[in-house]
Amino acid sequence: MKSAVVVVGSFVQDLAFYTKDFPRPGETVVGDFRPGPGGKGFNQAIAAARAGIPTLFIGAVGPDGSAHRIRPFARDAGLHTHFVEKPKHSTGAAVITVNGAGQNQIIISLGANLGLKPRDIPAPLLAPAQVVLCQGESDYATVGYVLRTARRNGAITVLNPAPMRPEFDPAVLRHTEVLIPNESEFTALVQQCPSCAALLRTAPYNTRGEFTEETLHALTAEALHRLCRCLQVPVVIVTLGARGCFVSQPDVFLRINAHDVEVVDTTGAGDAFVGGFAAGLVKLKHNIFEAAHYASAVAALSVMQPGTAPSMPIAREIARFLKKRDHK
Ligand code: RIB
Repeated sequence: MKSAVVVVGSFVQDLAFYTKDFPRPGETVVGDFRPGPGGKGFNQAIAAARAGIPTLFIGAVGPDGSAHRIRPFARDAGLHTHFVEKPKHSTGAAVITVNGAGQNQIIISLGANLGLKPRDIPAPLLAPAQVVLCQGESDYATVGYVLRTARRNGAITVLNPAPMRPEFDPAVLRHTEVLIPNESEFTALVQQCPSCAALLRTAPYNTRGEFTEETLHALTAEALHRLCRCLQVPVVIVTLGARGCFVSQPDVFLRINAHDVEVVDTTGAGDAFVGGFAAGLVKLKHNIFEAAHYASAVAALSVMQPGTAPSMPIAREIARFLKKRDHK
């Protein structure tokens, strides 16, 4: 089995509650409950596999039969899996609340995902990959190992630094070819980047070191591009929710608008984008801009469905959606 995309990352049991309004502190509200498979790594792997690209997911679970139970779902998506069982950890779990506007709040316990170590990842599984993806729900030393090994193998390494945890190790950026943060992750990365700090003191930024999401949204494309360059990663793609995304390559940048669709549930939209981007890279001969266009169609389709991994669209739906949009 040769997988063009390999995702090394998190598997999480999502416990999702749908309610009109988020509960306030001390309040109890009644909602609908839908459990399902999730975790940023697994969601991204499902997105890439459903887009029609041979994909392998490598992750860790507790000794509770999760790996066995998830197999039929993965198989239906065409996803290959390599689960490592961690006897002393529980499987990751997340409580997700989705309000009537499709916005979400998430609390996650990473459990076994943090127990996935380099020795758990057989090198031959990484070797054939064209694209290797990692996220921030894994141990950062493991992320560094995977990206370094993949890059040595000649794969395109993609890091989605979500969520940004306090232990984030900037050393992982050295092995990253494509960095895909959302607005809050980008803001956090800029805040801890020494060369960004120097740039931010100059015009047109003129900040005294503080950088917020509001500052980010007010930037011209040129100014945002210069800031992306300070992160010293060849390609930076900032996902901007309903505003679309911004793609910064060494000498060129592009803003891509989001598709205007009816939003049901935004949970996992970032994962749809990242998994869709990996699939797009393989389908579209490694063209970054075209892959980002493809990714934004995958994200748009995912927010029209409830859930995380189950909301990822299949290749036929993506092709139909893109065809319709291109003819508008
Ligand atoms: O990005 C959405 C995912 O974040 C959910 O599936 C949840 O498990 C958390 O990891």
